[in-house]
Amino acid sequence: MKHAQATLVLVKPDGLKKSLTGNILTRLSETKLEIAAAKVVKVSKELAEEHYCHLKDKPFFAELIKYIQGELHNRKKVLAMVYWGNDAIDKVRQLAGATNPEEAESTSIRGSFGRITTRGLYENVIHASTNENEAEREIKLWFGPDEIIVDLYPTEIKEEKLKRKVWA
Ligand code: PPS
Repeated sequence: MKHAQATLVLVKPDGLKKSLTGNILTRLSETKLEIAAAKVVKVSKELAEEHYCHLKDKPFFAELIKYIQGELHNRKKVLAMVYWGNDAIDKVRQLAGATNPEEAESTSIRGSFGRITTRGLYENVIHASTNENEAEREIKLWFGPDEIIVDLYPTEIKEEKLKRKVWA
C-alpha cells in the first residue's frame, strides 16, 4: 500500500559542477513530491564516512569519501534535500535510475549524466535513499528536526549550554 514517505536526495559535487541542479529539480518535480528540506552542505570527512558507513570495507571507499566531499571536482559542497510524499523512495529512485550509471536507463538522471571513472568509481550525480530505514538514518544524519517542515520522526527538547555562532 502506498503511504507518505521521506527520502534523502543529494546532488553530488559532479552534479553541481556540471550545472545539473535545475535539470535535476525539474525532473524530480515530475514526482509531485514536496521538498520538505533543502540546504547546501560542505561535507566533512566525518559526515561522509558516517553516510557511507556500510561501505567502509569496499575497495572504492576512500575514493567515494573524496568524491562526496568534492575533492575530485573542486566543488566542496552538495545540495541536500528531503523529498516527502506518497511512495517517495521508489518514485525518486525510478527517476534517478540504477546506481551504476552504465546500467541506468538512458533517460534517467544517472543514465543521462553519470559516468564511471577510469578508477572504477561511479560518478552518478545524485544520491537517493534505498529504503525507509536508510532514509530515516540518512535524514537524521544530514538534517536537524528544525530544518524539516514536516514532523517526520519523534523529537525531544534538549537544553544546551554550548557556545554557538549567532548573527552579530
Ligand atoms: S550496496 O551495499 O552495494 O548495495 O551499496 P549501495 O547502498 O548500493 O551503495 C553503494 C554506493 O557506493 C557508490 N559507489 C559504488 N558502488 C559500487 N561499485 C562501485 N564501483 C562504486 N563506486 C561508487 C554508489 O554510487 C553508491 O552510492 P550512492 O550515493 O547511493 O550512489
